[in-house]
Amino acid sequence: MERLQKVIAEAGIASRRKAEELIKNGKVKVNGEVITTLGFKVNSSDRVEVNDKLIEKEAKEYYLLNKPRGVITSTSDDKDRKVVTELIDTTSRIYPVGRLDYDTTGALLLTNDGVFANIVMHPSTNMEKVYLAKLEGIIKGEQINKLKNGIKLDNKLVKASRVKLKKVDNTTNKSLVEITIHEGLNHQVKRMFESVGFHVEKLTRERIGIFDVKNLKSGEYRRLTPKEVQIIYSYKDK
Ligand code: URA
Repeated sequence: MERLQKVIAEAGIASRRKAEELIKNGKVKVNGEVITTLGFKVNSSDRVEVNDKLIEKEAKEYYLLNKPRGVITSTSDDKDRKVVTELIDTTSRIYPVGRLDYDTTGALLLTNDGVFANIVMHPSTNMEKVYLAKLEGIIKGEQINKLKNGIKLDNKLVKASRVKLKKVDNTTNKSLVEITIHEGLNHQVKRMFESVGFHVEKLTRERIGIFDVKNLKSGEYRRLTPKEVQIIYSYKDK
């Protein structure tokens, strides 16, 4: 059973708030009867009409994209830049789960399933995110320890659960570092490295939870398997 305003919002007809107005204004019928009670619960076999039009429930879709550089993690952009949803061949109203910066590449999930998206993003799910960062400069053990011990960002202490120095190039003065975090603050990885004195030149997310992009070229995507969706749902209420 789901709340009526949620069902309307998820069908893409109106925002949750607009859906509430539609209900209050008597524009919504369930099984032919006008319902003006907010929070009225419906199930998947109930017929929901908005302005006398039956709403169609979209089938749930789930994708893993290897996001290229120069694409916005959004469903639309006011400056008309390319957005990630344009890369997926579907007519469903999918949206990205969380975000990667314009210049960040790698693993990004997209779906039209709000419950799935919430599970992935909720802090209690504690989803591991593994990034590969190319830094300007040579990072030392002391700075790596600072990242592991915790950095204060937005008044929150965030820690890297793992930091692996993959490569150091003394001639170009660059370091390649794999860093694992659990939160998803804005520009978190770049800001963590900035706070120990390093500019991130390139950033790619190699993995989010169980989803890595080893077998996807830049811009390629695949549908998640039912088993993978089930694994994410198994994290619910944990
Ligand atoms: N951290 C960043 O700084 N940028 C991203 O895109 C993702 C994580």
